[in-house]
Amino acid sequence: MTTFNAFRIHQDSSGHRAGLEALTLDQLTPGEVTVRVEWSAVNYKDALAVTGRGKILRHSPLVGGVDAAGRIEASSDPALPVGTPVVITGGGLGEVRDGGFATYLRVPADMAIPLPAGLSTRQAMIIGTAGFTAALALMRMEHNGQTPALGPILITGASGGVGSFATALCVRRGYEVAALTMKPASIQYLEKLGAQKVILRDGLAMGNAPWRPRTSAA
Ligand SMILES: NC(=O)c1ccc[n+]([C@@H]2O[C@H](COP(=O)([O-])OP(=O)(O)OC[C@H]3O[C@@H](n4cnc5c(N)ncnc54)[C@H](OP(=O)(O)O)[C@@H]3O)[C@@H](O)[C@H]2O)c1
Repeated sequence: MTTFNAFRIHQDSSGHRAGLEALTLDQLTPGEVTVRVEWSAVNYKDALAVTGRGKILRHSPLVGGVDAAGRIEASSDPALPVGTPVVITGGGLGEVRDGGFATYLRVPADMAIPLPAGLSTRQAMIIGTAGFTAALALMRMEHNGQTPALGPILITGASGGVGSFATALCVRRGYEVAALTMKPASIQYLEKLGAQKVILRDGLAMGNAPWRPRTSAA
């Protein structure tokens, strides 16, 4: 049987280990569609899973990668013919089912989203789950009535994966963005993304207030 490369993570009684393994299709979590993966982003969660520094995997072993973009290789769903470019993100990829760090991926048909015309598989994974998260957040805010006319938007953790996409998206959408960051070295980057104001965390007059939100009534 033909084998392909997969970056597989094991987290079991003998400890944590991860690396390339030769797998066959029937070793992957099953699904109605088989996708030939072209790109997968490296998300913070992937770093936690691959290094074993975070409890991401809920099964072991599992192929890593919380997202992927590629083309349908085989499908029992007429809405997803062979060759369709698709993106897959969330849905437990790399957490409860085999993820995108492999030549192939099998998923239920409703997890494979056809890419809109004009967006390549590479571009979809440059945006990645972090970018889609920022976009979904902005969509939800606008659904709830947010508009540029309501005033500036403060984006915390602005230099991070989600924060930098949120900054760029809000700017493109016409919002005035104030980007809050801990890192002086990120000021130029955030200005380049279009933030009208960059606020350094250390410059905020927070008095004795805690930096982290409280989890219970104090
Ligand atoms: N990445 C995803 O796909 C995704 C999806 C869903 C939800 N999330 C959630 O979104 C949040 C951000 O994720 P991310 O992937 O963007 O992470 P990230 O790339 O590590 O960015 C987090 C940013 O938060 C700031 N930060 C870090 N430690 C901090 C601290 N102690 N106090 C204040 N700010 C701190 C830093 O930005 P500055 O130096 O600029 O302040 C850092 O770059 C997380 O809560 C994550 O669980 C992420």
